[in-house]
Amino acid sequence: MNTLDAISNRKSIRSFTGEPVSQEELDQVLHAAQSAPVVMADYNNCILTVVKDREVLDLIEDAGRALFNSDAMPNPLYGAPTLVLVSMRIYPGREAAMFASAGAIVENMAIAATDLKIGNCWIWASVTAVQGNKEIYDRLGLPEGFTPCGSLVLGRAEEPVGEPRDLGNPIAMTVI
Ligand SMILES: Cc1cc2nc3c(=O)[nH]c(=O)nc-3n(C[C@H](O)[C@H](O)[C@H](O)COP(=O)(O)O)c2cc1C
Repeated sequence: MNTLDAISNRKSIRSFTGEPVSQEELDQVLHAAQSAPVVMADYNNCILTVVKDREVLDLIEDAGRALFNSDAMPNPLYGAPTLVLVSMRIYPGREAAMFASAGAIVENMAIAATDLKIGNCWIWASVTAVQGNKEIYDRLGLPEGFTPCGSLVLGRAEEPVGEPRDLGNPIAMTVI
């Protein structure tokens, strides 16, 4: 798949078979994360946490479920076998830029995963769940002072990934 196709064919996948992706595929997705732009090249203040441990995934999923209406979102991680959490050390004055950098990291992973036909979905529920839960924060081994800022679930999808799609142009655009 070429880059432009991977970008436009990316879509949120919310049904996973439970089968994990291979280490080689995961490494390629993580390489895409490592290639992302970060404000002022502040890579020292970013951490990627790859969560494959089912017990920890369940803890995050339970905490996410408790935060949101559980009927509307019974499985906030959709049963995906892998979650990559992006956490940043946030300095005063750089809050928005660090969150924006986390977004760049997550989107790079989403595009790479699409290219590899791996199901993927941005997940905010896990960010909020970890932010408010010291037990999970500690289980993730996050050093003090880091804030979860974005996350992506990955796994084999129950539907085709990377198929052509045409959303039109959903974002308003002004040319001056
Ligand atoms: C910052 C951010 C947070 C998101 N959080 C969630 C989430 O918690 N759960 C979810 O199912 N989708 C989440 N999404 C996916 C959006 O709902 C999705 O991108 C949007 O509906 C457009 O659909 P598409 O990704 O298929 O193009 C999130 C997307 C972004 C950018």
